[in-house]
Amino acid sequence: MLRFSKIGRLRSFVAVILIQLFSETTARSCEGRCGERATSCSCQPTCEALLECCEDFKQFCVEISPHSGSLLGGTDFRIVDVLFDRKVNLTCRFKSETVTQGYVDTDGVGHCVSPMLFESGWVPFDVSTDGVSYSRSGRWLSVHHSKLAEAARLTLVNETQWQYYGTQDVGGALEMAWDASLINAQRVNVELWGYNETGEPYSERWRAEWTYLYSVSRDVPNSGRFRFVPQLPSAPLSAWDVGSVRVGPSTEPDGARNVNALWSDGHALAYNLDEVFRRDPAAWALGRCLQWDQEEKHLPRFLSEITDCPCTLAQARADTGRFHTDYGCDIEKGSVCTYHPGAVHCVRAIQASPEYGAGQQCCYDHTGAQVLTGDSIGGSTPDRGHDWGSPPYIKPPRVPGFSHWKYDVITFYYCCLWSDNCHYYFSHRPSSGCRAYQPPKSASVLGDPHFITFDGVTYTFNGKGEYVLLHSSNHELTVQGRTEPMKSGNGSVIMATRLSSVAMRENGSDVIEVRLSDWPDHLQVLLNQKVLSFSEQSWIDLKGVFVFSSTPQNVTVMFSSGAGVEARARGGVMTLTVLLPHAFKHHTQGLLGTMNDDPDDDLTSSDGELTAANSTAQDIFAYGAQWAITNETSLFTYDSEFLLNEYFFAPKHDPTFTPNFSVSEDPSDPLLQPTLKMCAGVWVAFCKYDTLSTRSLEMGNNTLLSLRNHANTVRDLQPVMSCGWLQPPSHGQKEGTLYLEGATVSFSCNPGYHLYGPQQRTCHSDGQWSGSETYCLSDDSLGIVLGTVGAVLAMVAMVVAIVVYNKKQKREKMKESEDRNTASVQLNVAIP
Ligand SMILES: *[C@@H]1O[C@H](CO)[C@@H](O)[C@H](O)[C@H]1NC(C)=O
Ligand SMILES: *[C@@H]1O[C@H](CO)[C@@H](O)[C@H](O)[C@H]1NC(C)=O
Repeated sequence: MLRFSKIGRLRSFVAVILIQLFSETTARSCEGRCGERATSCSCQPTCEALLECCEDFKQFCVEISPHSGSLLGGTDFRIVDVLFDRKVNLTCRFKSETVTQGYVDTDGVGHCVSPMLFESGWVPFDVSTDGVSYSRSGRWLSVHHSKLAEAARLTLVNETQWQYYGTQDVGGALEMAWDASLINAQRVNVELWGYNETGEPYSERWRAEWTYLYSVSRDVPNSGRFRFVPQLPSAPLSAWDVGSVRVGPSTEPDGARNVNALWSDGHALAYNLDEVFRRDPAAWALGRCLQWDQEEKHLPRFLSEITDCPCTLAQARADTGRFHTDYGCDIEKGSVCTYHPGAVHCVRAIQASPEYGAGQQCCYDHTGAQVLTGDSIGGSTPDRGHDWGSPPYIKPPRVPGFSHWKYDVITFYYCCLWSDNCHYYFSHRPSSGCRAYQPPKSASVLGDPHFITFDGVTYTFNGKGEYVLLHSSNHELTVQGRTEPMKSGNGSVIMATRLSSVAMRENGSDVIEVRLSDWPDHLQVLLNQKVLSFSEQSWIDLKGVFVFSSTPQNVTVMFSSGAGVEARARGGVMTLTVLLPHAFKHHTQGLLGTMNDDPDDDLTSSDGELTAANSTAQDIFAYGAQWAITNETSLFTYDSEFLLNEYFFAPKHDPTFTPNFSVSEDPSDPLLQPTLKMCAGVWVAFCKYDTLSTRSLEMGNNTLLSLRNHANTVRDLQPVMSCGWLQPPSHGQKEGTLYLEGATVSFSCNPGYHLYGPQQRTCHSDGQWSGSETYCLSDDSLGIVLGTVGAVLAMVAMVVAIVVYNKKQKREKMKESEDRNTASVQLNVAIP
């Protein structure tokens, strides 16, 4: 995936010099930077484009390849564009503290090794050629280990065998595999490392640490494969149950840190557990499960702090600003849902909870309904440690991946996988309901450009320039859009525009720009004015924002506020969808309208003047024009002469560009008949305009597709009423696991018990279940009562008892919904 060229960099160099010459404010900050750089260099990601104004930029700031790797470290990366003397002592220092030894290869190319980190995202480093002064700088992208490409990890062949080793019928030799070219050695050592967190949880002294445990094997060929039969470890080492296998050069001493190496995924070290485990794994695991159950009771409760799940699979997949596919269980990748049998797709809440850094997971079955722990062992479970970690990382429970392993995964092995006591786990990690979930609203820009506001107003605005698409005082969220005239196949200008770039930021976040690149239908992402590469990983953790791009056509930007921006490149135009959570209601302005469920005020100018949506095209054009930004407010990067001339030194709304406000339908036009045939339904006007003004059926068809996508998103995000989970009566069963409006749940009692209360309950549109609670009472207790007190009295007593019990239950229910933490979830788990 070649997304940025050298020419691009040269152009940006020229452009920055131009900006420096002509823009007062920019020039000043650039000067300051250059002054500093005469003696030192700090390639901070913020201001990086400005750093290029220094003539000695190349000498000070290094580019590296690969630019990213596992946060566990060990990646050997090359320093490109600089050659070194073979005799120098090359070292790299990360975050001004961790030094790793590098080397210069026979071609004079410098190499360094990434260190073990407890965080993901960009990490600054400096390079030294004498081990004393660090004169060059660069940045390294640290990636959550499980989000890395398979090839960059050490693979545990048949991972289940590793993680169940010593349980019933699981034994034999364990095998691992790796890409031998990633270890710079003929022979390797294989080591086991353990992960732990020490110190009082949630105190200052709470720390994450990796410990070298022992050598599995020394001096074996670097063949990319290794097998061994695990030995029972000595007693103190057998206490480690979460860790990772490491393969590195045999020339390094045992347990050496920050050396070239490959790491396996974090996993349960079943093969490292002692004889007691081997003799009776279930008893051992139950012991651990009970111990954890006690410990967990003393930790702060985080359930009330995490967000509710979407009610349906459709909502979960459409709410891309706040939820993202869980890599373990993905309907697009064949639904391999090992930990969630019965589910076809799971998502995770993107943001960790504010105080505790906890995570939320939501799983759905093939009907699109939530899978809940109250009904199934495959239910989704919340996490004390968000799997992806959370800023500021480093300390538990925010260490990416491994805090989650420690608090939420190994404990699942204790209670659910190595033993059969899942109810303990589920009592601390019950599935989230969806009663508090509110779907976001979506707005779009598509075609040449048509706007669909949050409240559903559609209009066309073909201005050329840079405009406020959205501004919200809530979180200071700003999304700006740039449009440019369309060109026809033969290069002539068409009097209509297309969206070509969007730039955005919210309070304190990095600035992200997504724009059409020179490659057809490829999007380019810029972070604070500098091109960001997605060639090595699809997800990047940034300041106040995450960016996901698994293909150059699609980019998702997710802000801390829960606002999401989806950009798509298709058929030469860019389509934009903005998703805003409910909290933004009444707090938006700009071309995407006032989000308040009132379509009538959507075309409101910045000074409050209203334009009716059914105004003439000319009036709407005038309305759009006044949303032009200024150079002072612009978030865009002007890194080419074209952008400087057309946008930076030009009016932000080009008064000389007058679009065609309508297209004539000429009966002799051969394109007319196919256009009329293609363009039908509610979107007919946009489709005809786009097809005939661009003279391209493909263009019109793309517009139709984008409009349909938008309509589908709006449909998927419709609110759905939930009545909440119902528990089966004790001594009875429940049939039905759907709890949304219109659903019916039926009850029956075990033999020897009689059913009191409704046999069926239905979820009403007000979010309440019909009828009252259902009970199963034993025939015996009824018989005794009847025999001793007499029929009439007994019935009265019974009714009173039921009424009192009922009230008590209702009170408890209310208490429970107020504070889910206190809920003692009664489980009815069918463990296969
Ligand atoms: C290179 O520099 C590092 C960092 O100062 C030092 O620890 C190491 O001993 C030096 N190595 C050699 C071969 O001089
Ligand atoms: C890119 O986005 C389009 C439209 O939203 C979607 O249909 C497609 O599956 C996405 N591609 C990938 C690889 O995610």
